[in-house]
Amino acid sequence: MTYEDAAQQLRAEEQEHLLRFWKTLAEEQRRRLLEQIALLDFAAIRRMRALLEQRAAGVRHGDAVPADVVEMLPQERAAATARGEQELRAGKVGVLLVAGGQGSRLGFEGPKGAFPIGPVSNAVLFHFHARKVLALGRAYGARLPFYIMTSDSNDAATRACFAEHGFFGLDAGDVCFFQQGMWPALDPRGRVIMDAPDHVFMSPDGHGGLLSALASSGELADMERRGLSTIFYQQVDNPLVEVADPAFVGLHLLRGADLSIKVCAKRDPQEGLGVVVKRDGRYGMVEYTELTDEQKQRRRDDGELYFRYGSVAIHLFALPFLRREAETELPLHMAHKKIPVCDDHGHTTTPKAPNGYKFEKFIFDVLPHADTLINLVFDRHDEFSPVKNATGPDSPATCKRDLIAKWARWLTEAGVEVPRGADGHPLMPVEIDPAFAHSPASLRARLARMSPPDLSGPLWLRDP
Ligand code: UD1
Repeated sequence: MTYEDAAQQLRAEEQEHLLRFWKTLAEEQRRRLLEQIALLDFAAIRRMRALLEQRAAGVRHGDAVPADVVEMLPQERAAATARGEQELRAGKVGVLLVAGGQGSRLGFEGPKGAFPIGPVSNAVLFHFHARKVLALGRAYGARLPFYIMTSDSNDAATRACFAEHGFFGLDAGDVCFFQQGMWPALDPRGRVIMDAPDHVFMSPDGHGGLLSALASSGELADMERRGLSTIFYQQVDNPLVEVADPAFVGLHLLRGADLSIKVCAKRDPQEGLGVVVKRDGRYGMVEYTELTDEQKQRRRDDGELYFRYGSVAIHLFALPFLRREAETELPLHMAHKKIPVCDDHGHTTTPKAPNGYKFEKFIFDVLPHADTLINLVFDRHDEFSPVKNATGPDSPATCKRDLIAKWARWLTEAGVEVPRGADGHPLMPVEIDPAFAHSPASLRARLARMSPPDLSGPLWLRDP
């Protein structure tokens, strides 16, 4: 792209301020800026500006009602588990991890997946996801491809983390990294924000960017080439997740669902979970930031919250549905944020109050396009304790506590009594490497082949 081409396009888009430092830039800076301008998605920027203008109208979800949920009965669970195991054995299940976000609330430099969380081992979040994929592959004698979405802000560091840990035991050929898109941010007047005289501020385009990234990177074609039927989707922040839980996979297949979602009862009205709703006969997700206070607090006659169940971002996609959706243009969501900005003198500052708008696509905006959708209720103690904040709820401390409690329950089920305090919590940290055991049944089998574990101090059961 030449300077003239850029200037003409920017004039047409009312973004000519991006070239205001041109005269002061060195050759290399000019090249860099033109390269960045050439990559800007002006169609998306026009949609962002339109959304910014409508802002005063606000988001209206008044006509949304909670969607039906499914609670699996033991008989159905047995049939579903058998069906799911069959699919896993046939090598038709792939695992997808969205890890392109910036984890700013946690205040951790680097990819969130590289955050240490193992209560005994200090192993990183990626370790737990990857070792579960490894365990499933071994248990079902199949190759499970592991797709990891990164973004420009953490791709290199994510790859380095996997390489440094020997891909956590996985075959590197089955670990597929791909990058989501990056978008600019706008000031309140709809102008693209620059964070340096030769640079436009960019951030990841939201996990909804998954759809176009899967298609453009060739990973969607890879999924088809491998003959996959079902893709298990998870976020990076929850090491309790039961990856590709066979009962969930089987239920999804038996009911011919396009999309299945695990939901759990919200801890309290303010918990940051999106809720699955029905609106005009179609499914939808209303994000917690878009629910009004009245909607969050509303109660049914029996005293339960009206929007009782939240999504924890554990999904299953039928591959044909994902293929169909890859062509879809998802709506935009806007957030008022503190964005580093370059003033007219070329100095960059990060303001103390929000000064601009970031835009994102959300993967759950595919919900209205699903003909068959399952909201499966699960017990949050077993599968959900995310690391989102540095302290308080959903922090490393609560996550470690819940990991220890879960593994201690497994040990008890396997006949090993962990010493507990008066509050019932184990007296010492315990940790089970998912490759050592990925379920209570596999733990029992594994323990039966060894001498009883030493419970006099921290316990770490790991695969050699
Ligand atoms: C998210 C969900 C919320 C759900 C909750 C469950 C959104 C917007 N909301 O909230 O409905 O109930 O988790 O814990 O997702 N990511 C990317 N690329 C991006 C942005 C995010 O890959 O551009 C990934 C992150 O790496 C992370 C996940 O998406 O794995 C969630 O992102 P985050 O912004 O932390 O969502 P929450 O607000 O916690």
